[in-house]
Amino acid sequence: MTELLKIEDLTVSFRTSAGRVKALNNVDVTLDEGEVYCMVGESGAGKSTLALAVMGLLPQNSEVSDGRIMYKDIDLLRAGPEQMRDLRGREISLVFQDAQAALNPIESIGPQLEEVILEHSDISLRVANSMAQDILYEMGLPDPKRIMGQYPFALSGGMCQRVMMAMALVLRPKLLIADEPTSGLDVTIQAEILHRLKDLVKEQNSSILLITHDMGVVAAMANKVGVIYAGTVVENADAVPLFRRPRHPYTWSLLQALPRIDDPGRRIEPMPGNPPDLINLPDECPFVPRCFKAQSQCREQPKPEFREIEGRHFVACYNPVEPPALED
Ligand SMILES: Nc1ncnc2c1ncn2[C@@H]1O[C@H](COP(=O)(O)OP(=O)(O)O)[C@@H](O)[C@H]1O
Ligand SMILES: [Mg+2]
Repeated sequence: MTELLKIEDLTVSFRTSAGRVKALNNVDVTLDEGEVYCMVGESGAGKSTLALAVMGLLPQNSEVSDGRIMYKDIDLLRAGPEQMRDLRGREISLVFQDAQAALNPIESIGPQLEEVILEHSDISLRVANSMAQDILYEMGLPDPKRIMGQYPFALSGGMCQRVMMAMALVLRPKLLIADEPTSGLDVTIQAEILHRLKDLVKEQNSSILLITHDMGVVAAMANKVGVIYAGTVVENADAVPLFRRPRHPYTWSLLQALPRIDDPGRRIEPMPGNPPDLINLPDECPFVPRCFKAQSQCREQPKPEFREIEGRHFVACYNPVEPPALED
């Protein structure tokens, strides 16, 4: 497997009038070619900050105090604006939840899509037009010519999302960062869009960093999973072992909250409590107040280091959940 993206020790905060918001704390992510890496966590955990950091689109009030983001052999945190512009769209693309806001409201879809193509290549408008039609069709819009003549407000949320995805994918980037790409969409449409994304990755051997708060999406898509809590990755593993034997109590609780086909009558237990204030982040493990496995060590010692608990399965916890003896 060839490594495409390697984030090491990424630490990002935001300056606010109330104090410094510690949005990401020593985050590590490794993404191989052809792989779907899902970063999952609750709202406010730092997921969008991670996406923006990779894209070089962090806001003015942010500060990256530590870490590296290596894309192939380019350190994205140290790349110039020119180089980032060149990489964005062509090598690395972003789609996010609010497609309607991402599209220009006063221009029809066709020119917006063609512009992306023309900006990065010196092909003719005619070729760009046909590329635009092809990608819209691939994204599940059966009448691309008609769509290209329409304005964003005339399209449904699901259609806008497909258009944004077409824009992100038309230049066949190696890395797609998808930040809650299907949240707010109807479940069937969501499944269809995710399915298309997965197909594209397979066909092109590209990779996706898929950001979501939804364990159902993770189960459908991921090869590898990172679980993020209060700006800290608490567990990281291949998808199958993570779902079979979650080791961090937070991951375990997230999975408990999922409805299951094999046990439909099971009660869904919502997790008690709230995530910590990122301005006054404690030194100890941030999950302690909500943790059913917490013991005195967890309250008294600095937050636990990330360690390999089994082959390729990492967890930051003093007292991880013991897996049941499975016969697999
Ligand atoms: N521009 C900003 N200024 C100040 N705080 C921010 C800014 N952007 C995000 N935050 C804060 O950083 C934390 C992480 O936010 P975010 O990355 O958007 O989380 P997620 O995408 O997981 O919901 C939150 O506490 C959020 O309020
Ligand atoms: Mg977000």
